[in-house]
Amino acid sequence: MSVLALVGGQWGDEGKGKVIDSLAANADMVVRYAGGDNAGHTTVNPHGTFRLHLIPSGIFYPEVTCIIGNGVVVNPAVLMREISELREHSVGTHNLLVSDRAHLIMPYHTLLDSLEEDRRGRGAIGTTQRGIGPAFVDKVARIGIRVGDLMDSAVFRARLELVMEQKNALLTSLYGHPGMSVDEVFNQYIEFAEQMRPHVVDSLPIIHQALKRGDRIMLEGAQGALLDTDFGTYPYVTSSSPLAGNATLGSGIGPTQIERVIGVFKAYATRVGSGPMPTELKGEMGDFIREKAREYGATTGRPRRCGWFDAIAGMYSVRINGMTEVALTHLDIFDGFESIKICTGYRIDGAFTTEFPAQIERVERCEPVYEELPGWQECTEEISEYSQLPVNARKYVDTISNLLDCRVSLVSMGPKREQMIEVNP
Ligand code: IMO
Ligand code: MG
Repeated sequence: MSVLALVGGQWGDEGKGKVIDSLAANADMVVRYAGGDNAGHTTVNPHGTFRLHLIPSGIFYPEVTCIIGNGVVVNPAVLMREISELREHSVGTHNLLVSDRAHLIMPYHTLLDSLEEDRRGRGAIGTTQRGIGPAFVDKVARIGIRVGDLMDSAVFRARLELVMEQKNALLTSLYGHPGMSVDEVFNQYIEFAEQMRPHVVDSLPIIHQALKRGDRIMLEGAQGALLDTDFGTYPYVTSSSPLAGNATLGSGIGPTQIERVIGVFKAYATRVGSGPMPTELKGEMGDFIREKAREYGATTGRPRRCGWFDAIAGMYSVRINGMTEVALTHLDIFDGFESIKICTGYRIDGAFTTEFPAQIERVERCEPVYEELPGWQECTEEISEYSQLPVNARKYVDTISNLLDCRVSLVSMGPKREQMIEVNP
């Protein structure tokens, strides 16, 4: 048995897509377990450069079964667009399956996402406006529509009529919107149904048979621990859990089956959207990192907020995920830095702490306490063995590993699949 969960350790955009794309060479199955097309997983491989939002990053290996798990919310329009983009680059999708238990993102979800954001005004979350929050709300409110429902037009029609009566009442009364036509939504989605049908399955027997055979299964997370609904900077969070614990629920695998949890962290910190970020660099250094690392959202194109590595938030993330190892990405961004800072504590109202606070009002008041490490001047992009990394780069990796109390097993430099090396293999 070998099940590995791969999760984001920060605020998303840690490089999960790249790490999955590299590791999937040794996998039999990749299952996406959370989020929706708010995710943007960038991979650069011999087929080209791709930003996947829904399809698991193992899709470039034809023999790897890729499953969009039950824990994902699926926008069929995005899915079909992604399939055709892959095909244009001669990447087949015969190995792509979609769980019939996954919930659908409907046009009223995307509409409500933007109307709700407008209504929040200055308190806007800065969502990706992909309808993620409203879709998960409906799932828990038991008025969601699932992929399996869409496969039967009579069932779909009945559910749609019931839900849209409620949505139209909300749209007109609260938002002054004219409402949406049930027929239009129905006709559009019935077309999607036929396009999606070859991929739709009950994913559980397939996953459970793979487990029984001892296949190598990777559970692909989306977003990051600090965007988790319970443990993130609530309410500036996403609406499904990115944590390793949810990898079981979002795929239908029991917690006893997961052997390894790899947390992906960037060598620095980024955040896109609103909400507190203790190590954010608002001046020149933040701009420098953003431009050098091209830190612009893969889903929305928004500039990402950049800052130093936050080892307090990182240690918290290691614990709530039960990480067994860490993959550290974008290390090359620090090539040429005189020195690099790591946050090793916070001062809140004068008191020192190493615990990540629950309330955003306290996170906002965190003044980071830094440890400063010497940088390195060498270019690390072409290095293919850990021992060849500059000594100060290895020191930086060791320091992070010690502070997080978790082994860094992989480091990655540059965007390409092969630019990833094992630490002390
Ligand atoms: P990947 O998988 C970075 C952020 C949004 C916003 C908040 C809520 O690429 O790491 P939502 O649309 O989910 O309701 O927005 O979460 N967010 C992400 N930030 N990477 C992501 O995914 C994200 N998915 C959502 O910017 O702040
Ligand atoms: Mg992203």
